[in-house]
Amino acid sequence: MKAVLKFISLMFVVTVLAGLLVACNSDEGASGDGGLSVGIVLPTRDEPRWVQDEQRFKDALEDSEYTTEILFSQGSSANEKENVDTLISKGIDVLIIAPHDGAAAGSAVEAAKSEGITVISYDRLITETDAVDYYVTFDSIAVGAAQGQYLIDNSEGSNVPLYLYAGASSDNNAFLFFEGAWSVLQPKIADGTFVIANSSEAEALQDKGDLSRDEMSRILSQVTTNWDPNEAINKAQTHLTAVGGDMKGDVAVLAPNDGTARAIADVFASDNEVSSYVVTGQDAEMASIQYIIDGKQSMTVFKDVRTLVEDAMGMAITILDGGTPETTGTYDNGSVEVKAKQTDVIVVEQSNVKSELIDSGYYDADEFSGLE
Ligand code: BGC
Repeated sequence: MKAVLKFISLMFVVTVLAGLLVACNSDEGASGDGGLSVGIVLPTRDEPRWVQDEQRFKDALEDSEYTTEILFSQGSSANEKENVDTLISKGIDVLIIAPHDGAAAGSAVEAAKSEGITVISYDRLITETDAVDYYVTFDSIAVGAAQGQYLIDNSEGSNVPLYLYAGASSDNNAFLFFEGAWSVLQPKIADGTFVIANSSEAEALQDKGDLSRDEMSRILSQVTTNWDPNEAINKAQTHLTAVGGDMKGDVAVLAPNDGTARAIADVFASDNEVSSYVVTGQDAEMASIQYIIDGKQSMTVFKDVRTLVEDAMGMAITILDGGTPETTGTYDNGSVEVKAKQTDVIVVEQSNVKSELIDSGYYDADEFSGLE
């Protein structure tokens, strides 16, 4: 029965999307000049997260003559600007963009805007410019809060050493994730459940519940991974070398995403004085799902990219049809309040890998070994 319902709802989504796609496919292409209708720019192919987004866009657009092109910026704002210029020259009407660096992307989207293109910020907010029309995103504060809460729920006793790691300061999400995590962890640091092991800046602020952007920046400057697993390894090694035995034993580790979580987990696993570690993640990357099944990573926050893609494309199509997309709130990007559509997230650990990721059709069971 459940399977039938799932099938019916899947068919419904497919039909609606196909209908929308067909609706905007004039013979000339939706841009009316035979050019591209929607340009999509993603930050890097080097992280499975964004390759996943590319695949989900392709899946959603399969079988349609809808004209889109996806370009990757490979962690460079200069490449990103070139990508946007290329898409502008191909005549796009809508730009969907996840920026490499949220502030640096301003000039790229301003160029698009001045050509009358509608700009949708995708997953990461473009900051300090009024050239962003819409934002489709997951609830990033909830991601961080779920990570922090997981550490609280899965640590025992008091004075548990807490290692903090964060994403890149050039990514607005890194602040939102940290803000969410800090909102639940800070009271537990203040009451002695956790002891911060690796950030003097966080220690100095440990009695403060609400941190300003500047205060968070100070902490991030010590514990950023820059979203780079190698940087995460180096930082984790340096931190474990610097601390005494009292900061080892059973520890808790706030890792911002799956790529850095696996890197950090490997370092903690290889330290003889660390008897156990609880480590967070996000993105439900396949490699991390295997780590979770194997007991090497504790949790991940599942952000269903299918929904984000559907929201972004749905918005693009509404715009191409001359309508106004539905939004659920706004995000202050430092310049304007950007109208946003936000999606919820789901915590995944060993016990619900199967129900959340396999039964939902997100991944195939045979991608993993040892799955119950
Ligand atoms: C995204 C995460 C991703 C991280 C690193 C963030 O902006 O929301 O899903 O893991 O960037 O690419």
